[in-house]
Amino acid sequence: TATPLNRALGLIREVTDFPEPGVLFRDLTPLLADGAAFRAVIDALAAAVPPDVDAVVALEARGFLFGAALAASHGLGVVPIRKPGKLPAVADQVTFDLEYGSATFELPADTLHPGRRVLVVDDVLATGGTLAAAAGLVRRAGAEVAGAVVVLELAALGGRARAGVPVEALAVL
Ligand code: PRP
Ligand code: HPA
Repeated sequence: TATPLNRALGLIREVTDFPEPGVLFRDLTPLLADGAAFRAVIDALAAAVPPDVDAVVALEARGFLFGAALAASHGLGVVPIRKPGKLPAVADQVTFDLEYGSATFELPADTLHPGRRVLVVDDVLATGGTLAAAAGLVRRAGAEVAGAVVVLELAALGGRARAGVPVEALAVL
């Protein structure tokens, strides 16, 4: 049906052989560039925020766009989990495998503490390694992961099982 959300999700573009041969990449930039589509997606993510969440954890880089907008719409703070060498004060770091290559994430110092209950936000769930790594950093800081929300889940990669947190996805391909 032609809801604003379905129209928005229809703007996701398929790109073959990016970032390397054999990968079919789902590109969300046309959705982000469309004001009505971006708003519909943020509203839908907001409807999926679990109870008693007190911060959003957003994952570099594309998770920042959705996570920051969602946090602001809910009056929540946002904690950016970043690639190495970007944060001046680091609490902890983790290295993990990706669908293409590997990555390291760092948690900023003095952001998450025991008793905080966070929602992890990213654009795409693929193998689940990224969400699992982020959840590990949150838990090692003593905070609780209420769940994760993503715009798009690529179900064939089995990421939901690997993520190790409850995941809500607006679209599943
Ligand atoms: C992509 C995507 C997710 C992650 C999903 O990010 O934005 O964060 O991969 O993959 P996974 O479920 O297999 O772990 P990428 O590492 O390409 O970084 P970017 O957002 O900085 O472009
Ligand atoms: N699109 C966007 N991000 C991704 C993808 C994709 O197809 N696969 C892994 N991360």
